[in-house]
Amino acid sequence: MCGIVGAVAERNVVEILLEGLKRLEYRGYDSAGVALLQSDGSLTRVRRTGKVQELVDAIGEDEALGSTGIAHTRWATHGGVTEANAHPHVSDERIAVVHNGIIENYQTLRENLSAKGYRFTSDTDTETIAHTVNEAMKTAGSLLEAVQQAVTQFHGAYGTVIMDKQDPSRVVVARSGSPLVIGLGLGENFIASDQMALLPVTRRFIFLEEGDVAEITRRSVTIFDKQGNEVEREVIESNIEHDAGDKGGYRHYMLKEIHEQPTVVRNALQHRLDEKGLVADVFGSGADALFEKVKHVQIIACGTSYHAGMTARYWLEQYANVSCNVEIASEFRYRKSVVHENSLLVTISQSGETADTLAALRLAKELGYMASLTICNVPGSSLVRESDLSFMTRAGAEIGVASTKAFTTQLTAFLMLTLALGKYNSMSASDENAIVQALHSLPAKLEETLTITQGIEDLAEEFADKHHSLFLGRGDQYPIAMEGALKLKEISYIHAEAYASGELKHGPLALIDEEMPVIVVAPNNELLEKLKSNVEEVRARGGIMYVFADKDTAFASDDTMRVINVPHCDAPIAPIIYTIPLQLLSYYVALIKGTDVDQPRNLAKSVTVE
Ligand code: AGP
Repeated sequence: MCGIVGAVAERNVVEILLEGLKRLEYRGYDSAGVALLQSDGSLTRVRRTGKVQELVDAIGEDEALGSTGIAHTRWATHGGVTEANAHPHVSDERIAVVHNGIIENYQTLRENLSAKGYRFTSDTDTETIAHTVNEAMKTAGSLLEAVQQAVTQFHGAYGTVIMDKQDPSRVVVARSGSPLVIGLGLGENFIASDQMALLPVTRRFIFLEEGDVAEITRRSVTIFDKQGNEVEREVIESNIEHDAGDKGGYRHYMLKEIHEQPTVVRNALQHRLDEKGLVADVFGSGADALFEKVKHVQIIACGTSYHAGMTARYWLEQYANVSCNVEIASEFRYRKSVVHENSLLVTISQSGETADTLAALRLAKELGYMASLTICNVPGSSLVRESDLSFMTRAGAEIGVASTKAFTTQLTAFLMLTLALGKYNSMSASDENAIVQALHSLPAKLEETLTITQGIEDLAEEFADKHHSLFLGRGDQYPIAMEGALKLKEISYIHAEAYASGELKHGPLALIDEEMPVIVVAPNNELLEKLKSNVEEVRARGGIMYVFADKDTAFASDDTMRVINVPHCDAPIAPIIYTIPLQLLSYYVALIKGTDVDQPRNLAKSVTVE
């Protein structure tokens, strides 16, 4: 989704801004732009639709200079993908603005500003910010004051950075609903929507809080809270290891990230699980004392993270004897729900910034859950800061829009949560031991599973010309089938649906013919015989199946069925293991189709608007 980079320095900041935008490309966008101020007060603005490289090429021709600047990658919400709608937006060639989020009352603002003579040159909500600040400048004593006045008029979400041509020594930034992070340099300071953008220039960050407005100059950062009081915010030293330019020899980030899974899962387990089991308080200080009282878990998430939550429900109820509900955040936040007694709210998110999940957490706090826990991959993110407990998945930076290693580390975290909660809810010793042993075997099992690539590449060839597909699974493999379908549709644009295979005869069987490949996940578990019956139902109707099966299941390839053997694994980790071939399948199908694997069309990595 949209990305922001800004800088106030002595040197020319163009390279910093463009590099920052490149490092934000993974978030998904459709146009990009930059505005620069020089000390003589000249304002240069360049915008392009398409990739950041188009902008880089355009700037190359113009040789733009500026020691203060703002830059943006836009993911269209209000107004189509055009150069006129790309940020930065300006008012009177004086005030320049970049903005993430949505100004919901922009129509009213637009009418009022038009009546005052402001001319709009785009269809965006963002342009109202530029004109509102410009209007406020008429009475305010400084850009800071003007922004403080202006934000009182905005309804909705914004992370915005504003500069004034008449004072190139500073930018003013404001955050409400869309994250912003200040990067501290030596004699220069920066702002971005995501610390990733600033890693080449600093490791020292201040995460702005909701309602903060800050003034940034080369030598100072002054922050004011919602009430206008000057406040100190903690400076955090980032230890993120990431070079956005480094695909580690892989053709795409997604493939690199798929292959990183054994390592990141090992990291996720390190110092948390020993030979005897789960280490005390791995979910945070005081977590175990709190878990002792938990009788119910409410999980909230979106997309892939929601699928991790759905899998967790099977585990929490089967092994930990804790009742569990799972809901999509965008549904939860807009309906009345009943809070169970002693209920723990768990949010899951790779980014920690997903707008719907964050809003659901804020709502849940008002509803009276006993505590909130977030399972998240980005330290310092909004969900981490606003939850009572946080558990970092340690997947490392995930650049591919299609989530892979974030998902398997989330599942790993949920197995640990199952152990932590099961301890207080009469989990059997044999189940506890089975999960502990399975988790210890997981990194090596993932490595083994990644070796089945060749068979999957061949399968992808047969698959790539199809327009629809059906994914089937049962029990804790049903959410894995859903995740497989999501991966395929995201990056190959093939329509994919997932069903719990017991549901086949209640409707989807009508779709079966040789043009509708059916993908089946078939570990050797207590539901195998049921699954085999479902497979026969498909075969009897002329369906073509691709079965990912444990070799002990005795599935054999024939005219209607292609079987790919998956290494045998212990039951608790089977959902994690069977995720791998489905990720690889979607990757190789997308490769054959020639789609943009890492940045699929219309999608954003971090969905910071609802
Ligand atoms: C996954 O492949 C997706 N790109 C998407 O569904 C994602 O999982 C969802 O937007 C939630 O993001 P989060 O985990 O950062 O909250």
